Amino acid sequence: MALAIMCSGGDSPGMNPAIKKFVDYAFKNKQTPYLIYDGLEGLIDNKIKKATHQSVAGIMHIGGTIIRSSRSKRFFEYKYRKQAHDNLLSHGIKGLIVLGGDGSFRAMDIFSSEFNLNFVGIPSTIDNDIYGTEYCLGVDTALNVIRDALDKIRDTASSFNRAFLVEVMGRDCGYLAIVSAMVSGAEVCVIPEAPFESEKLALRLKKEVEEGRNYILAIVAEGTKKTTEVYNWLQESIGLETRISILGHIQRGGNPTVYDRMMAFEFTIAAVDYLLSHEDSNKVAVFQKGEFKLIEIDEVVSKKYQLPQHYLDTINYLD
Ligand code: F6P
Repeated sequence: MALAIMCSGGDSPGMNPAIKKFVDYAFKNKQTPYLIYDGLEGLIDNKIKKATHQSVAGIMHIGGTIIRSSRSKRFFEYKYRKQAHDNLLSHGIKGLIVLGGDGSFRAMDIFSSEFNLNFVGIPSTIDNDIYGTEYCLGVDTALNVIRDALDKIRDTASSFNRAFLVEVMGRDCGYLAIVSAMVSGAEVCVIPEAPFESEKLALRLKKEVEEGRNYILAIVAEGTKKTTEVYNWLQESIGLETRISILGHIQRGGNPTVYDRMMAFEFTIAAVDYLLSHEDSNKVAVFQKGEFKLIEIDEVVSKKYQLPQHYLDTINYLD
């Protein structure tokens, strides 16, 4: 059977190990692997090539994706989705794996409802915001990039009487921020999923500053759009000179951690096995309570990811 893999939306570390595993595992199962370059844009433009072992040699340790990705506006028009489907047919591709996030799965949900596709999505986004899975490829690497930055910022913060505000990515989800706050011991964490109780928090932190605390680390999720508000609060209500660091796209780079490589292998094996035993799958491979499962894509895109309650409870400790 001809099988293809592509990336869509924001790249994430772990995509390359998944691509490599896909090619190796397809050959092991006597299938023909194809690589689709440039995401949904490349699917429309027929940038589809048969893979060899050589095409994926030496990529395990590289961040991003060697087959590149895109956010496609054209794919939201029927005529381009039809063109994309014709391209898959012209190569005889009978199974498709898409490494992507929420937006890509929405596009694939539409695509798979219009055409007879055999499709499995693998959650791949540093945001960890996809319903039905506890883990998305790239998250561990991004958290380690943030942890490294926070450890360094704490070094300089603790050498001065200062507050540091670090804005992290995550789109509308506070996962990266809350986990980073937990593992770095940040004094303040502001995420979209919880109210920023600035007055209560100011009472406690001001008292601590009066009693000798000389620096504060505050982590703000980009989705809150509260970076300026928290900056002003740190300066005016807490009274500490404040600096802002917006970590930005460095959070999407870096060589995938061991965990991301292992998760890439497991997700890919689950996806290929499923495609080989089905003809019209519209599923997403998910990780739940230590197991890999396949769930319907329309369930994934119609429901919202919720942060674990015990993570949210850590915010209360900061009050
Ligand atoms: O979805 C991944 C992500 O990195 C988000 O965290 C961020 O909001 C967004 O993509 C940035 O998108 P772009 O790379 O298009 O600027």
